[in-house]
Amino acid sequence: MAIQVETARRPLQGALTPPGDKSISHRALILGGLAHGESVLEGLLDAADTRATRLAMEQLGAVFTDTPDGVRVSGLGGRLSAPSDALNMGNSGTAMRLLAGVLAGQSFDSTLVGDASLSARPMNRVIRPLTAMGASIKATEVGTAPLHIHGRELRAIDYVSSVASAQIKSCVLLAGLYAKGVSRVREPMLSRDHTEKMLPLFGVDLPEPCAVVGGSELHGCRVRVPSDPSSAAFAAAAGLLVEGSRVRLNNVGLNVTRTGFYRALEAMGANVSQSSRSFWGQEPVGTLEISYVSDLQGIDLPAEWIPSMIDEFPVLMVLAAVARGTTRVRGAEELRVKESDRIDVMCTALRALGVSVRDYPDGFDIEGPAQFRSARVSGHNDHRCAMSLSLLGMVVPGSITVEGADYIETSYPGFVHDMQSLGAPIRSL
Ligand code: S3P
Repeated sequence: MAIQVETARRPLQGALTPPGDKSISHRALILGGLAHGESVLEGLLDAADTRATRLAMEQLGAVFTDTPDGVRVSGLGGRLSAPSDALNMGNSGTAMRLLAGVLAGQSFDSTLVGDASLSARPMNRVIRPLTAMGASIKATEVGTAPLHIHGRELRAIDYVSSVASAQIKSCVLLAGLYAKGVSRVREPMLSRDHTEKMLPLFGVDLPEPCAVVGGSELHGCRVRVPSDPSSAAFAAAAGLLVEGSRVRLNNVGLNVTRTGFYRALEAMGANVSQSSRSFWGQEPVGTLEISYVSDLQGIDLPAEWIPSMIDEFPVLMVLAAVARGTTRVRGAEELRVKESDRIDVMCTALRALGVSVRDYPDGFDIEGPAQFRSARVSGHNDHRCAMSLSLLGMVVPGSITVEGADYIETSYPGFVHDMQSLGAPIRSL
């Protein structure tokens, strides 16, 4: 699939409720599937990534039913069945790394596979702590999937991660539920803490902010999934690209471990107003309103903001191309091991569109405002790169075509429709 976007001739206006949070949805499907009794999961993201997690939990024996109130899941109460086939995680690093933690502590063997992108992503970062807990996991020589997991009884770990990664942290915490003793994770900076916030909903009290007691039982509950701040970021950015726009985004998850992008927008000179704040479980939620400003400024991004906006760099790079001055990012080497090498994919596409960009091993400098030219660019089968690049079409003279956009299905199947509803001249080809 490709996406074609034309120059916007009128402001984007309106309100959206972006789709359910991907990270929270994965966790709700996993914890609901593991718990004793029934859970109701409201507002789950229904996209390729979360479908992979749901299917895997079904292969392990959990039963999911779609109802008008949400997805009901009859949990396994800790008794998972050995899957008869490999579990296919598709494009989803979260599904693979979190489920590796669960499966390491079971009394059966299992195999996790993924698509070409996922099969090239580093898995030693989870194999290392799981092996230290006593698990036996075989990967390729270079530490990539398929992962053959020989489940066994685990021992607790006090794990010091060198990367601020919620996937590593959550993998260890989930494995810790099946280990003897208290497992803890420390990380260099706080990454998204949805696992820690969701476990208490399922009746698991954490003895410390990032620790679990092995053998804790999960009990079914109701989870309300907020709209994904990472998906909301595209409409927010669109509002800042097209003169005169005003965009409202409802029920957006405002967990501070996720809102770095909105902080960066404010630092660039945008007005991001928050209202109707409440809590869904332990997750803060609210309405965001973003209006166009004519004088967006480039920024030197503080490295400590990176974990809280790790998925928003492609869209930040798009805004950096229209902002005045240099946007400078360093310390973001994790971008090279996402669904694509996002520094490379975005810098290549931005250059083709006429933007002045310098790339570094751990970041980039982008000089704005660019003198854009029309081009065909590729999202390289990375959902966030494809969606981000498509937005630029609205400010490029003529139109742009973004190829390799099929993977938008992984996190935001309704992206084109939602953008059209705000008045964006965008269509799928
Ligand atoms: C995620 C954590 C982040 C993020 C990913 C989702 C999660 O990855 O990039 O899209 O749900 O835990 P890392 O933990 O590897 O940074």
